[in-house]
Amino acid sequence: MSSINLWGYTEKNFQKEKYPLNETLFALGNGYIGTRGSFEEKSDFGGHDGTFINGFYDYYDLSYGEKYNGYPDRSHAMLNVTNGKRIDIYINNERFSLEKGTIKDYVREIDFKKGILTRRVTWISEKGDEILYESERLVSFYEKHLMISKIRITPLNFDGDIRVVSYLEGDVKNITKENDPRIGVEFQGDELKVLECKIDNNRGEIISRTKSSNLGLICLMANNIKCGDQYDSSYEQNDKSVSHVFNIKAEKNKVIDFEKYIVYKSYKNELNDNLYSEVIGIVEEAFTKKYDFYKQKQKEFIDKFWFNTDILIDGDDATQQGIRFNMFHLLQSVGRDSLTNISAKGLTGEGYEGHYFWDTEIYILPFFLYTNPDIAKQLVNYRYNLLDSARKRAKEMQYKKGALYPWRTINGEECSAYFPAGTAQYHINGDIAYTVCKYVEATNDEEFMVEKGAEILIETARLWLEIGHFNSKGEFHICCVTGPDEYTAIVNNNVYTNLMAANNLHNAYKAAMLLQKKYPAQYKKLIDKINIEESEIDNFEVAANEMYVPYDEHRKLYPQDDSFFDKPKWDFIDSEDKHPLLMHYHPLNIYRAQVCKQADLILAEFLLGGYFDREQKMRDYDYYEKITTHDSSLSTCIFSIMANELGLYDKAYDYFGDSVRTDIDNLHNNTSAGIHTANMAGAWMSIIYGFAGMRVEDGALRFSPHLPNQWNSYRFRVSFRGRIIEVCVTKDNTEFKILHGEPIMIYNEEKSIKVV
Ligand code: BGC
Repeated sequence: MSSINLWGYTEKNFQKEKYPLNETLFALGNGYIGTRGSFEEKSDFGGHDGTFINGFYDYYDLSYGEKYNGYPDRSHAMLNVTNGKRIDIYINNERFSLEKGTIKDYVREIDFKKGILTRRVTWISEKGDEILYESERLVSFYEKHLMISKIRITPLNFDGDIRVVSYLEGDVKNITKENDPRIGVEFQGDELKVLECKIDNNRGEIISRTKSSNLGLICLMANNIKCGDQYDSSYEQNDKSVSHVFNIKAEKNKVIDFEKYIVYKSYKNELNDNLYSEVIGIVEEAFTKKYDFYKQKQKEFIDKFWFNTDILIDGDDATQQGIRFNMFHLLQSVGRDSLTNISAKGLTGEGYEGHYFWDTEIYILPFFLYTNPDIAKQLVNYRYNLLDSARKRAKEMQYKKGALYPWRTINGEECSAYFPAGTAQYHINGDIAYTVCKYVEATNDEEFMVEKGAEILIETARLWLEIGHFNSKGEFHICCVTGPDEYTAIVNNNVYTNLMAANNLHNAYKAAMLLQKKYPAQYKKLIDKINIEESEIDNFEVAANEMYVPYDEHRKLYPQDDSFFDKPKWDFIDSEDKHPLLMHYHPLNIYRAQVCKQADLILAEFLLGGYFDREQKMRDYDYYEKITTHDSSLSTCIFSIMANELGLYDKAYDYFGDSVRTDIDNLHNNTSAGIHTANMAGAWMSIIYGFAGMRVEDGALRFSPHLPNQWNSYRFRVSFRGRIIEVCVTKDNTEFKILHGEPIMIYNEEKSIKVV
């Protein structure tokens, strides 16, 4: 039997050097609250404890040596909020802490089926008192404002005094910028000001407010102890923190049970009476219903998720664990209210400041779309809700019409201060447009297209007409953009961007035609709202048809952009020990050479596969593979998918191996700053689009499955147009079965079959 935990992740011996990393791996979240897997008791193992609320941020001013037009004046970042996790325990006046004393037994585990984090430690204090410490932590999917800690202490060899001190701490800070552009914020401190810290009705309460974004946060804690009558309790407080203290006369082998209910609620503007009562209601209800009720509800929620989502891999336990770890973390990270989204690091750490990127549309959304389409709907709705900000951003950039989505954001405002690898990535508009169409295709949600999707498509398409131009030959060119590959910046006619723009323009035209013919009233409403002429819509189709895509006839290769092949090749030998390159070289040195951080052209060949023939894909793959560093975790999954399509199965498996356990094995050495959500979903894509060869083309599901040698079989489910379809791939054949919904025609290896 394998020792790998297939439904969880376990730390069997306490490894203090891995504490910061494990804070990420053991993080819990429900898409609203996210909290790092730090211990309850105060510990100093070099970690960065943090609790985050999705969409809760503050602004900071951006300072530039030289500031030009259109540079954002300010950025915003996800805040580390009131800490409700901390519980200190004193055993005969000695503080329980793994920094000292002796650890006799230790196990910590995050359980993907139950959605809880547990720790069990047998610990002997320096004076020789031995306790069994058991904790469970849950961030509720059932009540999104609630987190619960349950602790059980058993004195094993003594009668004596045990003190439990449960804190609510308002004095919290974010990590400030150090030497890595990917981690830390330029906050000055005091972003989250404590307005009120009090004890009321046997509850601790902290109300805080952000310095400049005008967001409020109320955090409550209520504690419950069960240990007979042998205890007294009191409160202590100062301006920023409140603690509930329990002094217990402990007896050997008599269990002390302790539960802590923590409620977080963020709000805009002022805290009014209704909101306040709502929050009190949540904590009171939790206190009445108790932990086990929420534990049961947690399981019910997660059972449903796994029913739609699980992938079963027979024969490769490390991969099995890795892919479930990823899928579980994606669920924990994703906002499900259409006002929040999923950040590059989820809610597990401060890397990338809690920002949402194109990662959502091109990597993460497909995972939700084909497993939990309701969540995907919230993510596309989020982009619709940002449309006004995107229109405003287009104006700031001096465009007369259309919408420009921010490269990185939480609230819709552009946060990117380094435009060559930020704002210049206009492809985000095309990425969002691409996904709107994929969403409608997979769900048949035409209502979304009519009410919201068409508006997104048209407004994003307008921007291409503003930034591109028809040259003297009538070709449509797009100059001065950066494609997905951030090691090549500000180029003309990046193939990925141009093709995604063409797709955007064409689909905007199609959407306009659909509305005009089938929904004339809505069409009229839309064109009046956004003030668009029919000639402009016709121009979308012309620009799409005339889109210029550079091609090198001599090499029979697509250059990534107009000038890519004019550059010298990068010296990979010299830079062997200097990865990621961005941490070792001035950007210009990187931009001047043929070197890629991530899949760019290869991504275009996956997303818009019909545009390229197989031989072309093979030649391009061969060329670009040699010059790609995969310094971005968004890269290897795409190389894996395309290797599968091209029958390069060993490569496909190797790249997949790099992707599926990136975080659990800390392969990029930076998981302590948070998980890599795009890569996690990318690993899912590598199985579904890669090994199983799934594509959705013209509304039809297609498969072309391959079984990796390392596996005996694999089984997964996809949601498509109201159905749940199970696919099982073995050595001998592939079986398709409908688990929910009507029969459907699909293609397997180009053959049309009816799945029942
Ligand atoms: C990648 C971007 C990505 C960002 C956030 C960067 O390293 O190059 O493509 O959007 O990380 O994940």
